Amino acid sequence: MNGKVNPYEVEGRIDYDKLIKDFGVKKITPEILKEIEKIAGELHPYLKRGIFFAYRDLKKVLDEYKKGNKFFLYTGRAPSGPIHLGHISVWIFMKWLQDKFGVEVWFQFPDEEKFLFKQDSNWEEIQKWLHENMLDVIALGFDPKKTHFLIDTQHAGIMYPEAVKVAKKITFSSIKAAFGFNDSNNIGSIFYTAMQTVPVFLPNILKNEKRPCLIPLGIDQDVHFRLSRDVVEKLGYEKPAIIHARFMPPLTGVEGKMSSSNPDSAILMTDSPEEVKRKVNKYAFSGGRDTAEEHRKHGGNVEIDIACQWLKYFEYDDKKLEKIYEDYSKGKLLSGEVKKILIGKINEFLTEHQKRRKLAEKLIPKFIYKI
Ligand code: TRP
Repeated sequence: MNGKVNPYEVEGRIDYDKLIKDFGVKKITPEILKEIEKIAGELHPYLKRGIFFAYRDLKKVLDEYKKGNKFFLYTGRAPSGPIHLGHISVWIFMKWLQDKFGVEVWFQFPDEEKFLFKQDSNWEEIQKWLHENMLDVIALGFDPKKTHFLIDTQHAGIMYPEAVKVAKKITFSSIKAAFGFNDSNNIGSIFYTAMQTVPVFLPNILKNEKRPCLIPLGIDQDVHFRLSRDVVEKLGYEKPAIIHARFMPPLTGVEGKMSSSNPDSAILMTDSPEEVKRKVNKYAFSGGRDTAEEHRKHGGNVEIDIACQWLKYFEYDDKKLEKIYEDYSKGKLLSGEVKKILIGKINEFLTEHQKRRKLAEKLIPKFIYKI
């Protein structure tokens, strides 16, 4: 059985091929990768390694780009807690796209979303996380001249008029079917998807342009746009293109996705080197054998070993990664040794991130879109 995948729940073992069929998206092919490589001059490891694995309308966007019509990128983050490595992996790739294609990024912070969807949420706390989350996005190094934050409750004046136009074209019954809502869902949550649709076309209104929109996202978010792509077209704009990421598995095993509300399953952007070491050593699910002796003899299983899987995100050198996988499968490398490599890689990344995060505070006003 396939696990659950929707914006508000991701559980169980996820069959990505089945998702491709169920959601009606396309698998990224070697031809598409070649196209991207031609323009970018290289391929990001996340593309080569199938972390970004599916798409909608991507070819169209690349064709337009070649004709000289640049797309803009759009993604978002609903604040409600700390950022972890799973979130950041999508944005690392988006930053690469920004650099390689020289394009604008529109980043939405729907600060009402988790307020509406989480029973125990509290407004002040969400506003605090909004601030913290912006720091992590800025720390990734997006170009301040080409990156714009839209905060739903601060940009309501420009967003709401567009959201009502979207909302008018979506029925309650299609919302129920798409999100599995019932009569006990609050009325704010029913409207929310209209707000998430607005940045698909708002930049073109604000700048009086006609650029295609490309959305990098975790595949759980696809349903919002499945619902609104037609609506966007009915309003006279192009349907957005999408590129879908797999979930970075939680530390505790390959099922489900990482979650800030279960801190043992995730590494947070603010974790100290000691904390990273402790969590990886204690919680990272091992694909190794019961004893070192057996491991040396039979080797480990890289597919379920979280340290091995996470290295796909952090060891960019293909040859090194291959060698680690080979040695681990053959029993030359022990689980503890792979964990040690991973801890080193994560800490190298986080030390740099935390330095830039401290400088990000001053940059916030540069990123928030000025009305
Ligand atoms: N709903 C997303 C979340 O829960 C936030 C978000 C807003 C988003 N707009 C988006 C995600 C566009 C992907 C693409 O965090």
